[in-house]
Amino acid sequence: MKNKNINNVVDLPDARLAETDGSVKKKQSLPIHLSVLVICTELNVQLALSSQFNLITNVNFEFSDQMPKHLSQFDLVILTVNSDKDNYPLVIEKLADQNMPTLLLGDGIAANIVRAAMHFHVQDIIPFKNIEQELFNTLTICANEILKEKKVAPIISIINGKSGSGASFITGCLGEISADLCQDEIALIDADLHYGSLADILNLEANYFLTDALNEIDKLDNVAIKSMMTKRKNLSLLASKAYAQLDNEQNKSFEHLERLAWKIKLNHDLVLADLSRGLDLLTLPLVSISSQFLIVVQQNIVSLREAKALIQQLTQVMGINKSAIKIIVNRYSKKVTNITLNDIKKALAIESVFYVSNNYQLASSCTDLGYPLAKLTENKIIHKEICTIIKQTFPLKLPVEKPSLFSKLFGGNNVR
Ligand SMILES: Nc1ncnc2c1ncn2[C@@H]1O[C@H](COP(=O)(O)OP(=O)(O)O)[C@@H](O)[C@H]1O
Ligand SMILES: [Mg+2]
Repeated sequence: MKNKNINNVVDLPDARLAETDGSVKKKQSLPIHLSVLVICTELNVQLALSSQFNLITNVNFEFSDQMPKHLSQFDLVILTVNSDKDNYPLVIEKLADQNMPTLLLGDGIAANIVRAAMHFHVQDIIPFKNIEQELFNTLTICANEILKEKKVAPIISIINGKSGSGASFITGCLGEISADLCQDEIALIDADLHYGSLADILNLEANYFLTDALNEIDKLDNVAIKSMMTKRKNLSLLASKAYAQLDNEQNKSFEHLERLAWKIKLNHDLVLADLSRGLDLLTLPLVSISSQFLIVVQQNIVSLREAKALIQQLTQVMGINKSAIKIIVNRYSKKVTNITLNDIKKALAIESVFYVSNNYQLASSCTDLGYPLAKLTENKIIHKEICTIIKQTFPLKLPVEKPSLFSKLFGGNNVR
């Protein structure tokens, strides 16, 4: 478009608002992450939109002056309508052909364009002058529409207060057994950037890693990320490369972690994140979008002290609700009588406490020999304990089984 100054005509909000007022205004968050493409030739409009997008979290946006060939990495297109172009109905039709949710942005839009917009079910038309008031609300409506169409997996993070507690072993068992119990798509993210061990525990050979996905985030759509993950039937793993965190250049790509996690959330039924390095600045975005936390502890004072500090950090600093936290006492033994499950429940002030028994043979054969599921199924005790955690914690469609007389009499391994 010729250099007509749209600001003079339509009173656009000033792009500098985001820098000066932006820090004062509280950012608003969309219900799902949206990747938005704005088709727009006008620099003033781009600046004004950028300042508005910068007030919203859970969104990333890109500008293009024409419709690109590939749209699959975007969730929504905003088509800016300038009065001196007349191929908009065609662009609207092409976007509709690709099932791309579309918004129009412009003033005094010509009747033939409005007709095309209605015919091809454009989501909404926003006047330039109302961007400030309407952009967030309209994006929220679009996000909710998209949400209805897609499955969005919750993320459950498995964290230890202290390394070596068994967070990775338990994540592996939970992933393996839940994928075996149902048809749902289970994704595992190994977020231990130093000693990522899930691939070994699950006997999966990974050749695509978390850091690779972060580096090429712009190229990955939700389907691509699913196909790049290491897969066995309905269980997928995004593995971690050893010592990934020592590379400073690489660390910058972790700013995309939340975006990547959203791509994995879409199209799976459940995501488990192995945060067995505890809370860590680089992987914090995973914590903030997790809906539940399983904290793995052991039956000793040091472990409980560390877990208490972790729970405090999660609840008081990160604002996580206590009801989202559950405890797994790993390597549990009834013989240790000075610290019982009830003592742990009271000490940590958490309602749900599960346990997983000590089984050195199983744990080491999972890590060293492979065939974890076969070994797990063979080991009736750990299998049953893990099943109890899955049934009481995971939002999965599990087949209903009739309770045996034994379980009626003695219940599961939750001390709730
Ligand atoms: N229930 C268990 N019984 C026996 N050994 C276990 C158990 N859980 C974990 N282990 C072993 O303890 C070690 C540490 O476990 P890991 O899962 O790597 O801990 P984390 O991820 O919390 O650092 C591993 O060698 C693992 O095989
Ligand atoms: Mg680990």
